[in-house]
Formats: sequence, structure tokens, C-alpha cells
Amino acid sequence: MGRTTIRDIEAKHDAGEQLTMLTAYDAPIARCVDAGGIDMILVGDTAGHNHHGYDDTLPVTMDEALSNTAAVARGTEEAMVIADLPFLSYGTSLETSLENAGKFMKEAGADAVKLETPPEGGTTVEIVDRLTELGIPVMGHLGLTPQRMNEIGGPVVQGRDGPDSAVADQFVETAQELVSAGVFALVLEAVTEPVAKRITEAITVPTIGIGAGRHVNGQVLVITDLLGLGNEGYRFEKTYADLETEITDAVGTFVDDVSQQAYPAREHVYEPIDE
Ligand code: KIV
Repeated sequence: MGRTTIRDIEAKHDAGEQLTMLTAYDAPIARCVDAGGIDMILVGDTAGHNHHGYDDTLPVTMDEALSNTAAVARGTEEAMVIADLPFLSYGTSLETSLENAGKFMKEAGADAVKLETPPEGGTTVEIVDRLTELGIPVMGHLGLTPQRMNEIGGPVVQGRDGPDSAVADQFVETAQELVSAGVFALVLEAVTEPVAKRITEAITVPTIGIGAGRHVNGQVLVITDLLGLGNEGYRFEKTYADLETEITDAVGTFVDDVSQQAYPAREHVYEPIDE
């Protein structure tokens, strides 16, 4: 089986099947995620706090994001690899946005890019339009958009006023504009379930939720949260493994083995040829 394409995503959505996406930031984890049968791997800017050790997503540079994306692309064979455009790598001008997005395809081997859009749309809709016109598949991202966290005032759940509110109307309108501009899927982050349902029913492309409830067309989680390596404590998270304990225990066992000269043992030692 080859790489998942946007036609495969469309076909799965048309068949009423749920889509799956996880983040990954390096080759070994991406290899495991790919082998697990995921549809899409997002090389998210959540690499900022889950990989590079920053406080949030804002400091992630183009070089870091390109390097992470290339590693994930090299480590995978089947999942579609989607590169998340870092903060201010798009939006400052149309030309810079197109050039930077193009680097993820030309230099890092991404199959698509993702960018965040504020509730009222604006210039990012135009950028999506130009990118798709040039042949770069784009995944949209609405709801809580962490690159605007300082402007929003924190990790605030969006759409608390319900599906008939002016905010919900705005999200639906912008989601429809993004679809007209060519997005092949739309991430909905930290949106109340009724608002996510309304957006999902109003558009033709699949919605992929993270903290957006059950009435969407697929789910995405941050890999370190899923593996128990970086739980941020949000209500929507589900931890499927406890790698923090496993890794800490393995390191502790290695430290004990070396201290007690139990490692290396005879089977780990290189012998001269004539022995
Ligand atoms: O950067 C990221 O990991 C994301 C997901 C949370 C959707 O945008």
C-alpha cells in the first residue's frame, strides 16, 4: 500500500468512516504511529512543548519544523504526512507564506500543510486559496488556535454560547470559506460539542476534532499525551500507555546494571577472531 492521499481521505469520509490522526515529531515514533495504521500524521507545532522543550508553540522555527517534518517523512511509508506551518511563517505576506509552505513539500517531503485561521477568517483564507491553486493540499484549523493564545487570553474553550450564537455563525461562515478556498479537511480544536456538530454538518470536507466531542468526522491527539509522556491535563485527553514510567524504569535498571557490573555481560563483549 502506498501513501494515503487526499482521495483516500475523501473516500473514507464518504464511506462514513472515522478518520484518525496523531502528531509525531521524529522518525522512531513516526514509524510506530505509521505501523499502528493511522491515516494521517501531523508534524504539529506542538513540537514546541512536546519535543523541543519550549513553553508553547510560538518559538518553533522554520528550520526546526522542516527538520521534524523530514524526519517523520523518512520514518513513514503509509500515513499522509502533514506539516504544521509555524507561527508567523505565514500571514506576514502572501509571497512568504507560499514560499515557506512550499519548503515543507519540496525540502521536507510533506504531503500537505496545515495552518490556523481566526474565527473571522481573513488573510489565511486567501493563503489557503493560493496554496491549493498551486497544488499544495491544505488542512484548515479553527476553534482554539494556539498560535493566537496571547490574543485569545489563554486556552479558552470556543463556542460556550451554544450552536445558535453569533460566534457559532462566524465559525460556520469561516469554515465554509475555507472549504471554498480548497481545504481537504478541517481541525476543530477545543470547541463545544454542539458547535462542532453544527460546523461538521455545514461543510463537505471532514472535520477532525481535538476536544471537539463526538459529532465530528475524525479525531487527533498529541502523541506525547497519548503515550503518557506529556499529559497536559485537558479534559479531552486519553492516555493509552505509560511510557514515562516505562522509560524511567528502564533507565533505572540500566543504571543499576552498570553500577553492579551486571552489564555488559559476556554476550555483549567483542572477542578476538581466534578465541
Ligand atoms: O500542532 C498540533 O499538534 C495541532 C494539533 C493539536 C491539532 O495543531
